[in-house]
Amino acid sequence: MKRTKIHVLRQLENSPGQVLVKGWVRTRRDSKEFSFMEINDGSCLKNIQVIAGQDLENYVQIQAVSTGSAVSVEGLLVASPGKGQKWEIQAQRVEIINLAPDSYPLQKKRHSDEFLRTIAHLRPRTNKYGAIFRIRSEMAFAIHQFYNKKGFRYLTTPVITGSDCEGAGEMFRVTSLSPEAVKKSGIMDFKADFFGQESNLTVSGQLSAEMFAMALGDVYTFGPTFRAENSNTSRHAAEFWMLEPEMAFCDLQQNMDQAEELVKALSVHALENCEEDMDLFLQFVDKSLPDRLNTIIHQPFARLSYTDAIEILQTSKKEFEFKVGFGIDLQSEHERFLAEDYFKKPVFLTDYPKTIKPFYMRVNEDDKTVAAMDLLVPGIGELIGGSQREERLDVLEKRMDEMNLPKESYWWYLDSRRFGSVPHSGFGMGFERFLMLISGIKNIRDVIPFPRTVGSIDF
Ligand code: 4AD
Ligand code: MG
Repeated sequence: MKRTKIHVLRQLENSPGQVLVKGWVRTRRDSKEFSFMEINDGSCLKNIQVIAGQDLENYVQIQAVSTGSAVSVEGLLVASPGKGQKWEIQAQRVEIINLAPDSYPLQKKRHSDEFLRTIAHLRPRTNKYGAIFRIRSEMAFAIHQFYNKKGFRYLTTPVITGSDCEGAGEMFRVTSLSPEAVKKSGIMDFKADFFGQESNLTVSGQLSAEMFAMALGDVYTFGPTFRAENSNTSRHAAEFWMLEPEMAFCDLQQNMDQAEELVKALSVHALENCEEDMDLFLQFVDKSLPDRLNTIIHQPFARLSYTDAIEILQTSKKEFEFKVGFGIDLQSEHERFLAEDYFKKPVFLTDYPKTIKPFYMRVNEDDKTVAAMDLLVPGIGELIGGSQREERLDVLEKRMDEMNLPKESYWWYLDSRRFGSVPHSGFGMGFERFLMLISGIKNIRDVIPFPRTVGSIDF
C-alpha cells in the first residue's frame, strides 16, 4: 500500500477507507482499552491521531512507544469526534520502525530557542522550527515564481570570486596553499595558489548580474553569500542567502517600485500559501505581527532622502548611542527608530553620501551623494540595499581612482560601460532577514537550518 502524507490526508473530503501513514510519535497516552498516538511526518504542522486497540497483536509493545519513535500505521481513516481534527486513524497494524530512548531531548515541553540552537540537528522536529523551515522552503519557491512571472531570467553567479563587490574587504579567503608552505616561504604566494591570484567567497553576485542585465535585460541571482563581518548580532550571519535582481533601463524610482512590489507580494504569498504555519507565528510568536504584515501589504512604504532622515533623527528627542550627523553610516538603532517609531512602516532611504557607499553607485548631480536606496523595516532595520548603477564610464573610473580600486582587475566590468552602457539598477535582499520579518523570529540563527556566525560553525 502507498503511504499518504499527513498534509494530504488532512485535506481529504471523503475517507478512502484504508490508509498507510509513516511518521514520528509526538505523544502517546493510554486509556483503558486504547493507546492514542499523535503522529507527525513533517509534511505539515498538525499531527494525525492514531487509535490502537487491545486487539492488535503487538499492543504490549505499542504501549511502550515513546516520544520520538518512528512508526508505520495502517488503518481506517474515520471522522474524528475530537475537537480541531477532521480525521483520525483506527489502526489495524502498527509497525514500530524505531523506538526512541527516554534520553530523546525533545520530550513534550517548551524548549528555549537558545537550547534548541544547541541541538540544531533535532530542532526541525519541533512545531516552531518545522513551521519556519517549511515557510523558508515555500518562500524560496515564491521568489523564483515572482520573477519567472515577470519574465526575469535566473542567473547563478560564482561562489568563488576574484573581486570584492562591496569593497568592504570582509571576505573569506579561498586557498589550496598548505599552511606549511606559507610558513616556509613566509608569504601567501597567490601566484602559486590554485587560481594564480587571491580569491575569496563571494559577498554579492551583483557585478556578474550587471553583466547579464546588459545582455538578457531583467535578471536575478539568488544564492549563498559570505561575509566575514565581525558583528555578533541577531541580524548578521557569516553565510546567508541573498536575492539580487538587476534590471536594465531602470532608474532608482523604478528600482524602489520593484522592491516594494516584491516585499508585498512575498508577504501575501506567505499568508496565502503557508496559512497553518504562519498562524503559529501570528498567534504565538509575535503579537504585533498581524498588524505589521497588514501595514506592509496594504500601505505604501515611506520614501525619503538620507539627508532628511538625518534631520528627523537629529530633531527627535530620542537618545542614541551613536551620534547622528551627515556622513555617518546609520546604525541599527537609527534604522529601527525610523521604521518602528517614526514612520511605523517600511521606509526607503535614498541618496546616501558617496563616502559610505560602494564604488558602483551612480553619483548624483551634487557630487556628494549617490543614487542609493536602503529599505528599513520595523523589528529588523535594513532588509534591502540597492542602487542605480554608475553607467558613465568616465565617472565610474574617477570613482574607482578615488577609492584606490585596481581598475585593471575590473576591466571586464568597465567593458559593460564601454559597449552599449545604459542606466540600470538593482538591489539585494537578505533572505533570512525577510523570513524574520514575516515570522517575527528575532534571531537570524533561528531561520537558518545550520547557522554560521562569528565563533560558531557546529553541525
Ligand atoms: O546592502 P548589501 O551589502 O548590498 C549588496 O550586497 C549589494 N551588492 C546588493 C545589490 O545591489 N545587488 O546587502 C544586501 C542585503 C542587506 O540589506 C541585508 O538584508 C543582507 O543583504 N545582508 C545580510 N544578511 C545577513 N547577514 C549578513 N551578514 C548580511 N549582510 C547583508
Ligand atoms: Mg547595505
